[in-house]
Amino acid sequence: AETALQAAFDEKINADGKIEPREWMPEAYRKTLVRQISQHAHSEIVGMLPEGNWISRAPSLKRKAILIAKVQDEAGHGLYLYSAAETLGTGRDEMLDALHSGKAKYSSIFNYPTLNWADVGVIGWLVDGAAIMNQIPLCRCSYGPYARAMVRVCKEESFHQRQGYEALLVLMKGSQAQRDMVQDAVNRTWWKCLAMFGPPDADSPNSDQGRRWGIKRISNDDLRQKFVDATVPQAKVLGVTLPDPDLKWNEERGHYDYGAIDWDEFWQTVNGHGPCNKERLATRVKAHEDGAWVRAAALAHAEKQEQRSMK
Ligand code: ACO
Repeated sequence: AETALQAAFDEKINADGKIEPREWMPEAYRKTLVRQISQHAHSEIVGMLPEGNWISRAPSLKRKAILIAKVQDEAGHGLYLYSAAETLGTGRDEMLDALHSGKAKYSSIFNYPTLNWADVGVIGWLVDGAAIMNQIPLCRCSYGPYARAMVRVCKEESFHQRQGYEALLVLMKGSQAQRDMVQDAVNRTWWKCLAMFGPPDADSPNSDQGRRWGIKRISNDDLRQKFVDATVPQAKVLGVTLPDPDLKWNEERGHYDYGAIDWDEFWQTVNGHGPCNKERLATRVKAHEDGAWVRAAALAHAEKQEQRSMK
């Protein structure tokens, strides 16, 4: 029976169909999806912290309103993604425990500090820009709930990218000190953004199977290249320099060449030793503990409702 189920699954994957929660799927496919979707959810939630740092210090009411809306969107993305992962049979408590105990990964990029106001604009422009590049192909991922969640996430990310770029355009029209602040933020963030796409294809253990299952539609290196190609002209319009002396147009390839990424630093950060890993996790754990009374109250309320409905 299992071979017939496997054959039906393979046929659907090969025909580019969607796999839905109640259908049979190989255990390894389920496990990979729980891994990727929960890591993605954790990234959204932890990703609220670097920008949340600036909500109380935004330079105007307008910037503050935009930033609050954006950070709230990231919370929403985390919630759709935890829900999508739950459809695969893993509970939210289990996923959160994995985050809080340091077992689960989340995006490397959120372990760096936001030192000046321009970091908020640069996160929108570059970090959310990279996130969109990676997530648009996920709208075509073979697992239905994940693919559908990504459609809305990408629309919201596109607003985030634009608000960041617009905030930077305004700063670049300001004083020399403001322009310097933007350049400083770009210098600190550029290389970390290139690393967000994950290790080079040759060193990416999950890529081949991810491609075969229709989870990963475009490889880590191809997405990174698309991001570089799209970003260079935007940097020109903005008037900033991207901090890479090897960045230049390659006529033959029809792409920009770029310099070497520091993968040692990337793995250090992914494995818990980046500049802010401890602080990020401690903040999440405290928020979870501080919210214990809300969970207890919600459960008590649900129990009362159930008792009332049984009368
Ligand atoms: N930060 C932290 N860990 C990473 C990163 C990164 N930037 N890139 C890769 N890794 C991890 C992988 O999770 C994997 O570890 P694991 O096997 O323990 O899970 C390991 O490095 C090897 O990488 P790959 O074999 O290339 O892994 P995968 O095929 O899963 O590709 C990728 C990684 C591209 C991040 C993929 O999981 C993905 O597309 N995820 C969904 C999008 C996402 O999570 N975006 C982050 C949020 S962006 C934002 O919120 C603004």
